[in-house]
Amino acid sequence: MRFIGNKTALLDNINDFICGNIPYYEDMIFCDIFSGTSSVARYFKKDFQIISNDLLYFSYVLQKATIDNNRFPNFKNLKKELNLNNYDDLLNYLENSPLDKLQKDYNINDEELFIYNNYTPSSDVCERMYFKPETGKRIDLIRILLNKWLENKTISENEYFYLLAILIETVPYYSNICGVYGAYLKTWDKRTYNPFKLQNLEIINNNKDNISYNCDAHELIKKIKGDILYLDPPYNTRQYPPNYHVLETIAKYDYPEIKGVSGMREYKEQISMFCRKKEVYNALNDIIKNANFQYIIMSYSTDGILTIDEIEEIFRNHGISDTYKMAKPIEYRQFKSQKRPSKKDLHELLFFVEKEVENPRINDKKLFRKKKEIQTTLK
Ligand SMILES: C[S@@+](CC[C@H](N)C(=O)[O-])C[C@H]1O[C@@H](n2cnc3c(N)ncnc32)[C@H](O)[C@@H]1O
Repeated sequence: MRFIGNKTALLDNINDFICGNIPYYEDMIFCDIFSGTSSVARYFKKDFQIISNDLLYFSYVLQKATIDNNRFPNFKNLKKELNLNNYDDLLNYLENSPLDKLQKDYNINDEELFIYNNYTPSSDVCERMYFKPETGKRIDLIRILLNKWLENKTISENEYFYLLAILIETVPYYSNICGVYGAYLKTWDKRTYNPFKLQNLEIINNNKDNISYNCDAHELIKKIKGDILYLDPPYNTRQYPPNYHVLETIAKYDYPEIKGVSGMREYKEQISMFCRKKEVYNALNDIIKNANFQYIIMSYSTDGILTIDEIEEIFRNHGISDTYKMAKPIEYRQFKSQKRPSKKDLHELLFFVEKEVENPRINDKKLFRKKKEIQTTLK
């Protein structure tokens, strides 16, 4: 998914940095506490038990589907109820059933269609052009059906989160925006004309009790414990919720009060201290100080509001000072589309420190094995 700060293109760099600094042993717990699209948590799920988290609810939905969940759901009851043979039939039902028929079959009033009524030019009252009206209506109907099916137990919670997650992954492909939802385009982008097709989400089974949260990292960090803590906080003053408010509303489907030209929902409960110049130092300090993890890795940008010196100071203060390390800065253009001009001097940064923790989960360093050995034995 297109998402500010998505680390998909940096996964190999993060993996190399982890392999180079952290001894692997079995049953390690890895926490991705600013999970966003959950790309990092998903990548490391094959290696570790995962804890993932984000303040955004739609991120939590993606995490529930791909991190918590270890198996592709079978949708047994739903297929039976709708008389469908397989998962492709279910996708086809959601993608292609005539909208009026769905609305009538499930007794859904026009007033219930929140996206259609507020984010499409469906009437004289609403001019917002986030989606074509028929796309907005299909998003609403899928969203409402998921709630109904969960409520009457036609689908399990896992099935609900999987279908909601593929809907969230799909919506950006039909959104009439330039990357984020802070504003919509004033003419229809060609992508909005494409036939509606739901995305696929791969699920890895690591046979572990992975767990996802939708909390403030400052609260969560005091309650969890593990081995590797990966931090990917926002690095500039742009708060995430206003940029993704439509996805948040589709995920929550809570009929919020909305305001302004872009129809923004309230987000004061989701404001991040990492996006505030005056508070960002204390924000990072708080996380590192309270972390009950032996190894800490952080991604940041040279364009960030914290300086490298400030990060080093915080890492050395709370970690074992001489274990502090910063990787060779990674050039921005390495992980940007080739077409885009790269901003000179803009680099991605990776930091590491080891922490003295109470009761480290493994004391005997002889038990440590390199990741490669573990992977070989798993084959
Ligand atoms: C740089 S993005 C993470 C990107 C992610 N690694 C990925 O690959 O998609 C930062 C994330 O931190 C989340 N965030 C910001 N402040 C937070 C906080 N205090 N607690 C939890 N999550 C927070 C934002 O919602 C956003 O999803």
